Amino acid sequence: MIKNKKYKEYNIYYPEEEIFYEELGKRIIDKEFKESEVYKNTERNYVAKIEIKGEKYILKSPKSETIIPQRRIQTFIKNGEALNTLINVRERIKEGMKEYAVPFLVIVKKNIFIKESYILMECIEGESIKSTADIDKIMEIVNKLHKEKIYHGDLNTSNFIKTKNGVRIIDTQGKQERFFHFKRWNDIFIMENDLLVIEKEYEVEEKYYKKNKDISYYMILVVRKIKKLKFVEWIKSKKKELRKKGWRI
Ligand SMILES: Nc1ncnc2c1ncn2[C@@H]1O[C@H](COP(=O)(O)OP(=O)(O)OP(=O)(O)O)[C@@H](O)[C@H]1O
Ligand SMILES: [Mg+2]
Repeated sequence: MIKNKKYKEYNIYYPEEEIFYEELGKRIIDKEFKESEVYKNTERNYVAKIEIKGEKYILKSPKSETIIPQRRIQTFIKNGEALNTLINVRERIKEGMKEYAVPFLVIVKKNIFIKESYILMECIEGESIKSTADIDKIMEIVNKLHKEKIYHGDLNTSNFIKTKNGVRIIDTQGKQERFFHFKRWNDIFIMENDLLVIEKEYEVEEKYYKKNKDISYYMILVVRKIKKLKFVEWIKSKKKELRKKGWRI
């Protein structure tokens, strides 16, 4: 069970069996930590390696859902990315998927909508994915997840880390899809566009367990084709331009 404790204007969510995480959450809210490396700090995302009492952690703050209006509105009823990750990924780990980076706690500031959110997770020491053999390991994990109806959501080689004890998954919400096979085919299509996959001429579908192309496959293919159409590209580039000017779309 996930416990929820209020501290200042924030809510700290953590697994009830891990009582000392409350203290950890308070320290983060009070900014009592050392930021040892910032991986990402954009308008949409913040990711850093931090240290508390000599322990290393990864602190992430997904900001898209707090700035993009249509996503912000959804946070009125939805948990948000960080809390989803904490709940889902911990559930997946309990079910036996040991490859996930372990999420420890979540901090959310919310009035009507989510204003700020953070997730603290296990810092995985290792290297980035570089070889065909590494991609094979990713595909083994993907096959295992997909058979359990779990999808990644942003399946690309940069969201995995190679360690001494195998390949680990970072950056996923650990969601499941109940019907069809949409999200899973979408994972496969995203993976096929990964730069390393392209460079290595890696055949993703050959390593994928599912061979029969069902209705979901063709539907998602059509959706992706439409997205690629010129005018959609044009709209996207306009959106980008406006974003640069500070529009929140
Ligand atoms: N649990 C972790 N352990 C070690 N390093 C991590 C961890 N999580 C993130 N990182 C580092 O931070 C980088 C960015 O993290 P992450 O992929 O979560 O952010 P992102 O903004 O979603 O990136 P992208 O959109 O490119 O996938 C990773 O490439 C990795 O180097
Ligand atoms: Mg990522």
